Amino acid sequence: MELVRSPGVYRAGGFLYTPNLLPGTRVYGEELRTEGEIEYRRFDPDRSKLAAWVQNGGRTWPFQRVQRVLYLGASHGTTVSHVSDILPRAHIYAVEKSPRAFAGLLNLAQARDNVFPILADAQLPERYRARAGDVDLIYQDLAQRNQTSILVENARACLKPHGFALLQLKTRSVTQTRSPRAVLQGATDELERDGFRVREVVDLAPFSRDHFGLALQWEA
Ligand SMILES: C[S@@+](CC[C@H](N)C(=O)[O-])C[C@H]1O[C@@H](n2cnc3c(N)ncnc32)[C@H](O)[C@@H]1O
Repeated sequence: MELVRSPGVYRAGGFLYTPNLLPGTRVYGEELRTEGEIEYRRFDPDRSKLAAWVQNGGRTWPFQRVQRVLYLGASHGTTVSHVSDILPRAHIYAVEKSPRAFAGLLNLAQARDNVFPILADAQLPERYRARAGDVDLIYQDLAQRNQTSILVENARACLKPHGFALLQLKTRSVTQTRSPRAVLQGATDELERDGFRVREVVDLAPFSRDHFGLALQWEA
């Protein structure tokens, strides 16, 4: 296993892996692989935009010294489970508004002590800021028209000064009448106007078409 992003992401045989926090257990049917004393879980860029970020060469990896993460759009917890592997000692607050997806997230959190699920709308950070505020990192993956303003509102409410955000921008959810590149430009302009510095942008195709990963630092 070669460590390709520190902490937590390894490569072997052309595939990415994270060290399994709960050896012997799978979250969504992924391959398990043991090397030496350590069991790893396959981190699949077709299943996780965070893996696609690494696979497509995203260099910014703002997980060093992170103690608290706010994850917006957690769904059933596929990527949350890998963040949980990458940051075994952190607190990961996972927000999801769909009760159906939230049920899967609850199961994940029962097994993983570092995951704290929150059933809430990410458009209303005041509902959870007392519990999930003061975070080092926001990860956002929700297909909403106003993705950038949701991120800015959450940064204002919950992100530490100079904290990082990883935004998985789905351009088709913003509009289908402008090109993905034009939507990206509009989003980066808005984010910079509202206090983020754009550190890196990665096209997530072919794994997630019309998606860009953005690494952002909060300077407001
Ligand atoms: C693309 S899926 C997330 C996949 C997940 N991040 C992963 O990689 O495993 C988007 C999720 O965002 C949720 N979502 C959309 N709008 C939301 C909002 N305003 N607040 C909270 N969750 C939201 C949806 O219910 C859906 O589960």
